[in-house]
Amino acid sequence: KVKTAIFISGGGTNMAALLYASRLPNSAYEVVLVASNVPDASGLGLAAAEGVGTFARSHQGMSRPDHDAVMEQAARDAGAECIILAGYMRILTPEFTERWQGRMLNIHPSLLPKYRGLETHKRAIEAGDKVHGASVHLVSSELDAGEVLGQIEVRITQGDTPETLADRVKIAEHQLYPRVVNEYLGRANDPEHLLQKIRDLALALPGTH
Ligand code: GAR
Repeated sequence: KVKTAIFISGGGTNMAALLYASRLPNSAYEVVLVASNVPDASGLGLAAAEGVGTFARSHQGMSRPDHDAVMEQAARDAGAECIILAGYMRILTPEFTERWQGRMLNIHPSLLPKYRGLETHKRAIEAGDKVHGASVHLVSSELDAGEVLGQIEVRITQGDTPETLADRVKIAEHQLYPRVVNEYLGRANDPEHLLQKIRDLALALPGTH
């Protein structure tokens, strides 16, 4: 199974969905770490209660590259081969995203390429959209612009507020994210897949095993 680290900043409901889905038969991945830039993020408690390693370090008072480096080291120390961003509300340095290219995924609450950035639910309602949703994409150095791996639609209904819509989008996200992660990382067993190549390379390097 592919070892994954999940980065969160908040409630971590997507992390919980990913964690429980990883316990289903035939899961392509396991969760080796849940890490956060918010030390009191409630998702950390859930992960710890489920026996998953946790790590927290506030970004406050740290430069972006320094904080990224601490988070990255925590992922490496846990043996992570892939990083899954799940409500991680920090923009990462291009150096970090480049090092994990093809091995870092994010979920974004809109039908990309619409509404990159923040306040996606409010913007969709104000635009008069009938359909909204969520996207899982590979992380690239440009914000919310990496290759889209999967999307799910959520109808906007009369009287929806950003909060009511966000709640329904999250329920949909919990269906989408584990499925897309599983499909994407399932391909890691294909010898032509990037993750497999990286593993082979690591095994071939002296002193790594
Ligand atoms: C999710 O809706 C996710 O799509 C969004 O934050 C929420 C996290 O909820 N992410 C972003 O807005 C990223 N820019 P959770 O902590 O309960 O999983």
